[in-house]
Amino acid sequence: MGIQRILSGMRPTGKLHLGHYTGALENWVEQQNLLNEGGARAYETCFLIADYHNLTTSLETGEIYTHSLDMLIDWLAAGIDPEKSPLFRQSQVKEHAELFLIFSMLITSSRLERNPTLKEQVRDLNMESLTYGHLGYPVLQSADILLYKANVVPVGEDQIPHVEITREIARKFNNQYPHPILGEVFAEPAPKVTKFSRLVGLDGKAKMSKSLGNTILLSDSPEDILKKMRIAVTDTLKIRKNDPGHPEVCTVFSYHAKFTSPEQLSSLTEDCRAGHLGCVECKKLCATNIAMELAPLLERRRFYEVRLDMVTEILLEGEKKAKCIASNTMEQVRTAMKLGQSPLTHLGASPC
Ligand code: TRP
Repeated sequence: MGIQRILSGMRPTGKLHLGHYTGALENWVEQQNLLNEGGARAYETCFLIADYHNLTTSLETGEIYTHSLDMLIDWLAAGIDPEKSPLFRQSQVKEHAELFLIFSMLITSSRLERNPTLKEQVRDLNMESLTYGHLGYPVLQSADILLYKANVVPVGEDQIPHVEITREIARKFNNQYPHPILGEVFAEPAPKVTKFSRLVGLDGKAKMSKSLGNTILLSDSPEDILKKMRIAVTDTLKIRKNDPGHPEVCTVFSYHAKFTSPEQLSSLTEDCRAGHLGCVECKKLCATNIAMELAPLLERRRFYEVRLDMVTEILLEGEKKAKCIASNTMEQVRTAMKLGQSPLTHLGASPC
């Protein structure tokens, strides 16, 4: 068996926030840089900008390009290395649309209507009706994953049902269309849930999200972070500085848990409980620790921000590599389905 491939992606919503970092990006970088005992890379990694998926919830496309670049710069700032991981937009590799079409015949609409992630989204966004394409969200995602024959898909909890649908589609395809040489065209991918889940928002109510305006951005300066931290909701029972607090219900402590050293965290916890630590002081420390963690990202972001030519070149290079892998897979798909007259000599995948 060859090297295992990891693929993940995000919808381009613009600049990323801390929740994207702890919930996904940090893990992507780790997988990208992981070595096996022999010192070789443990995984091949590919990351996609799911711009078509954006259309499921908004037809507004005016900012899709700038949002994609902003997101890409945050990926690079976080340590994604384009030499190791092709980075590409779904819309620029036409094979996504092609495989999506074929896959949409391999799954029933009632199966898609049962998708819990979709049901949640419809409820959260108060949607009255659903487009055909939105119902097919996980089918497009299946094409994203299977075009690159990914074995592992790092995702948040809410995306597990989509990877399950991907597995079902892979199975269906393999049974229906065995390949004359390969047998099965697709391997069934496994989801890999990120260990540190998304952060709660500054309002303490829900997870960090751009639409709720409760985020700290990866591109925020130390001053921005401190300013935002001032509005963070803490233990509502701790009114005066010397009231004893309850770190377990405090938003700021949930950030300390991630960004503060274990030693400092345990002394802060003790002081808060004893009423020796005021929230203002506690927030300052938290803001400082977050800013420290983000300092190298900010520096790399500044590097790329003034070199947009380089950023677009990275994208075009990634799209070239992605296209090569995707078109090899489509060759196999068409051969297995006896669509067209692909000569058998093209079957061995050409190197990408
Ligand atoms: N649906 C994913 C999300 O919202 C984004 C995505 C699109 C994706 N295609 C993918 C994730 C393929 C993993 C693999 O988070």
